[in-house]
Amino acid sequence: MSNQDQKAIFITGSSSGLGRATAKLFAAKGWKVIASMRNPDKEKELAKTSDVILMALDITEPQQIESAAQEVVGSGGVDVVLNNAGTGLAGALEGLTDEQILRIVNTNMLGTIRTTKAFIPHFRQKEQDCSSIRPRLADG
Ligand SMILES: NC(=O)c1ccc[n+]([C@@H]2O[C@H](COP(=O)([O-])OP(=O)(O)OC[C@H]3O[C@@H](n4cnc5c(N)ncnc54)[C@H](OP(=O)(O)O)[C@@H]3O)[C@@H](O)[C@H]2O)c1
Repeated sequence: MSNQDQKAIFITGSSSGLGRATAKLFAAKGWKVIASMRNPDKEKELAKTSDVILMALDITEPQQIESAAQEVVGSGGVDVVLNNAGTGLAGALEGLTDEQILRIVNTNMLGTIRTTKAFIPHFRQKEQDCSSIRPRLADG
């Protein structure tokens, strides 16, 4: 497979759990993986995995999301964005502090919305690219 054919995926929250497992799975299947996480300096295994690029991203930081999306798009773009980063709390709702509630909303809701929004122009552009190829296929 040439590098041009290689598919790419951008994952948030790749430091553990499903995000980490997904990064390893896609890399093993030949994809380019941009594995974003809050503390990439602490990640040893993925840092050594072929075709995995680590990127710092805290999805509660809107400016970081914009910068990450720009960097990813500027270095070739992606085929898939996996909004995986998230946080949870167990317990009775009335026991949660306002700070805990805000952290969940900022991460699980606003972080996911902002990440998706930051990549939408890229996917719209890809769609345009695809439709500009179709007439040529029809002609051929
Ligand atoms: N496992 C389940 O049964 C289940 C069920 C329903 C939904 N989910 C959702 O599925 C996703 C993955 O679940 P999991 O079980 O793999 O959870 P996990 O092991 O706790 O992993 C969550 C990941 O999100 C990252 N994260 C948290 N806050 C972040 C932030 N502000 N910016 C960037 N990354 C952040 C964590 O990074 P740090 O290492 O920096 O904390 C961690 O890598 C989560 O969104 C979870 O809420 C899971």
